[in-house]
Amino acid sequence: MTLEITKITANIGARVSGVDISRPLGPETAAAVREALSTHKALVFDDVNLDDDSHQAFVRTFGEVTTAHPTVSSVDGVPNVLPVDSERGRAANHWHTDVTFVLNPPQATTLRSITVPPYGGETLIASSAAAYRQLPEPLRRLADGLWAEHTNDYDYAVADEEVDERQAAQRAQFTSITYRTVHPVVRVHPLTGERGLFIGGFAQRLVGLPPAESRRILDLLQAYVTRPENILRHRWSPNQLVIFDNRITQHYAIDNYDGLPRRLHRVTLAGDVPVGIEGKESYSIQGDASHYTPVAA
Ligand SMILES: [Fe+2]
Repeated sequence: MTLEITKITANIGARVSGVDISRPLGPETAAAVREALSTHKALVFDDVNLDDDSHQAFVRTFGEVTTAHPTVSSVDGVPNVLPVDSERGRAANHWHTDVTFVLNPPQATTLRSITVPPYGGETLIASSAAAYRQLPEPLRRLADGLWAEHTNDYDYAVADEEVDERQAAQRAQFTSITYRTVHPVVRVHPLTGERGLFIGGFAQRLVGLPPAESRRILDLLQAYVTRPENILRHRWSPNQLVIFDNRITQHYAIDNYDGLPRRLHRVTLAGDVPVGIEGKESYSIQGDASHYTPVAA
């Protein structure tokens, strides 16, 4: 078999074929997949035939894995696998980069489809590198100097009276440890040197600015990330694996499947501490995530 990489859109996404990822990858194949991920930001593998063990083994090809989540429980008996299940709520219908409220968020996220609804349930994945490139020069200069505080504990858009008991319990679990971390708004990718907007839903405030002005500037920058041209709209088939580079993308799970069963399993690759364009690293204000993730070199 020869590895084949086919672009899906100009700015993000490629389909990978000619490799059986349920078996150990040789070093050359692993390097080629890694390079494709750096180039295309999101990769789709079809007909993968993985279970939780071989899914984790695939991710471990590229480094250490995290546990399922800092506060949310894993698949029963499988501490490194997070169930993404419509039964557990559909809270991922907002733009975010996974777990950016910790000091070293996962460098990559993998999702494997188990149950797919008959319609809807797509995952949108956006290139924040393309967004950065598209910023007009004065906005780019502004973004270059900004740092943002990311937290898991903020007011969700849903009004309190719309939250039922189950949602309230989920939210209590999600925020059972409060995390606050300051990251550069422009992150330099450690493998490629490429710059990307590192914001997303957990970025709640800009350092040195009041909340209301922070919101307006974050919204302005975020509008570049979510331009249709920067988005891969992935329609799930059963038995697929999607990996995306969590250092330079955002994603959104569309809630458009009438609450029908939808289940994916997620395994994330432990990440490094983000670095801004002047070489300065992110720093933690609150919350210890050492039970969740090792720090990648
Ligand atoms: Fe996510």
